[in-house]
Amino acid sequence: MRIPLLLFLAASLSYCTSEQQSIDPIEQKVDELMSKMTLVEKIGQTAQRGTSSRVKGELSEDLKNAVREGRIGSLINVMNKEFVDELQRIAVEESPNGIPLIFARDVIHGFKTIFPIPLGQAATWNPALVEEGARIAAVEASTYGVRWTFAPMLDIARDPRWGRIAESPGEDPYLASELSAAYVRGFQGNNLTDPTSMIACAKHFVGYGAAEGGRDYNTAVIHESLLRNIYLPPFEKAVDAGVQTFMSGFNELNGVPVSGNQFLLDQVLRQEWGFDGFVVSDWNSVTEMIAHGYCVDEKDAAFKAARAGVDMEMTSQSYDNYLQELIDEGQLDIQQLDRMVRAILRVKLRMGLFDQPYRVDNEELILSESHLKKAKTAAAQSMVLLKNEKKLLPLKPKQKIAVIGPMANAPLDQLGTWIFDGDKDDSMTPIASLQERLGANIQYVQGLTYSRDQSKAQFARAIKAAQQSDLVLFFGGEEAILSGEAHSRAHINLPGAQEELIKEIKKKTGKPIVLIIQAGRPIVLENIIGDVDAILMAWHLGTMAGPAITEVLVGDINPSGRLPISWPKSVGQIPIYYNHKNTGRPARAESFVGIEDIPIGAWQSSLGNDSHYLDDGFEPLYPFGYGLSYTRFEYAGLTISADTLNEREELKVNFELSNTGETDGVEVVQLYIRDYFGSITRPIKELKKFERISLKAKEKKTLEFTIDKSDLQFYNANNELVLESGLFSVFVGGDAQTTMKQDFWIE
Ligand code: NOJ
Repeated sequence: MRIPLLLFLAASLSYCTSEQQSIDPIEQKVDELMSKMTLVEKIGQTAQRGTSSRVKGELSEDLKNAVREGRIGSLINVMNKEFVDELQRIAVEESPNGIPLIFARDVIHGFKTIFPIPLGQAATWNPALVEEGARIAAVEASTYGVRWTFAPMLDIARDPRWGRIAESPGEDPYLASELSAAYVRGFQGNNLTDPTSMIACAKHFVGYGAAEGGRDYNTAVIHESLLRNIYLPPFEKAVDAGVQTFMSGFNELNGVPVSGNQFLLDQVLRQEWGFDGFVVSDWNSVTEMIAHGYCVDEKDAAFKAARAGVDMEMTSQSYDNYLQELIDEGQLDIQQLDRMVRAILRVKLRMGLFDQPYRVDNEELILSESHLKKAKTAAAQSMVLLKNEKKLLPLKPKQKIAVIGPMANAPLDQLGTWIFDGDKDDSMTPIASLQERLGANIQYVQGLTYSRDQSKAQFARAIKAAQQSDLVLFFGGEEAILSGEAHSRAHINLPGAQEELIKEIKKKTGKPIVLIIQAGRPIVLENIIGDVDAILMAWHLGTMAGPAITEVLVGDINPSGRLPISWPKSVGQIPIYYNHKNTGRPARAESFVGIEDIPIGAWQSSLGNDSHYLDDGFEPLYPFGYGLSYTRFEYAGLTISADTLNEREELKVNFELSNTGETDGVEVVQLYIRDYFGSITRPIKELKKFERISLKAKEKKTLEFTIDKSDLQFYNANNELVLESGLFSVFVGGDAQTTMKQDFWIE
């Protein structure tokens, strides 16, 4: 491959003496282009047009002309290689300044080789694996000319009713931040000019996941220190990892729609974090500011979005229609437009598009053996074993097994939400893999044809199959369409007649039931938790769900996934998350009186006046970080290097981890801190480190983590990052409820 001229220039100019003006060749080229561009072309760069993803016929002359005249900067969803090539050729060869287009697409958890939904990938607690998955997605998608993905989604989500929790990294800012950097590295690769590099987009900036009641697009109210301590860190980490674009969300935050929010898009993102890529709006989110009640009309929306710092408008056309007028009238400063266009050109130059505008065909790598293998590893590591009574799993040889449930053979649904390019015909389903592996020992009765099915027509057959078997594998969950954008649910239990079928099987046969859940969110299990003996959370695992699930069930793979989100007992407990505040009256097991135990005729003061629910207590069903293994891990000997330290000193944390079981396994070791007193109250625990540790049966390892100032500081009420003196604890263990701790003081 020829060395792009710009890279060569960059290398030769990178050591300027201080007397010389430091000349960045990219900025120089931006200047040069800007000096030649007309106002129409500048405004053109800010336009991202959509075309149908299923364009079959001819390219429209209107579209070709718009590109030819330099009136489009980027196109979304052009999924026809010839059209991509033709449009890019027109941009490069026929538009006034030959500025290439960027083709964009939502490549969220794989392109054709589909990986687990992001919430599932978060359960791997394995940033390196997430990075590899993102790289594979980029290699595949760039074959179709896609050089820009609208991922990673970095919205902290504390409400599983919200359909887009499936796309999120979960509830924790530290885990989300580690994954954020991994996704950016993976999508963008080592070199942005590589034709398989796909620039990433940190979205949805910010607060979209805090939608009231989990209703998508809804209002978010987040005070500033909470914003800075919980919601912003994964975005800042994306900037540190070199992310090239941001997306402003649909939501309003504290009364101002994000797409018109100068504080976020300018002050925080650009001035504080130094981001110099560009910001794209979400789909029509600029003109939706009218419905929000923040803008009078399209012109006002264009003005407020541009002023705030949205550089490119996705699909709506208020910039196209009004930026010129706003500039002519003197309302919008031309320098603002120049800043927007410069940011877009800078990214196009960094991507090497001027040197190599055309896609490189890697068709042979799509769904290649190595990609599928990696997708299977990701699927296997995403699964979380939640319950395993009487060591029901792994399955024992020669067991007779009834496979029942709507999700055992659901090739489309196992792919999950946001899989524009995934094909269900490539899916390997659980039933196919189980039949291949266990052959005649399997008896399959679907029972329900899809997750919302209410029909009991197959109940008798399913019960008969269970009766004839030693054990039931019940494949339950949600169809893919029940999570994702605009697909929030108020009741997040197993839909349709799944609960009834499980109950009937248990009641009529008494056979042990393993529930395998494929869903886009944690499922409320309150009605059936007593009827199932083992539970494996399998999210929507993607193309390779079948083999991965089979290998975990039979014990070839020991489950190692851990929850990236607290799993509620009931919808009434939501929001429930581990890093909550203590309150003045924290819930206590010793004084808690459950609703069943309230003496008849008792009056209020006899119930303990703590922060809990009488009916659902105060703990989730399964805590953040939780997950079982086929072996047992024990922690011992927690020591710290000092009891007191100052802000410049580090703390070494040592402990021993043992695999005391008979099987090799992987433990996700987690380190949390607690800061007991502060100028504002602090969470009862905060994740600060984690690591996947492999241990052979009976093996023991001494582990060490180092904590420093950066792990202990937080944003105070004045929104300053501070470390305050006082008492802290460091905890280690296998989930957020660990009690193994040591205390220390910061002087
Ligand atoms: C709307 C979604 O909110 C966003 O995440 C996505 O990237 C865009 N549509 C483009 O499809």
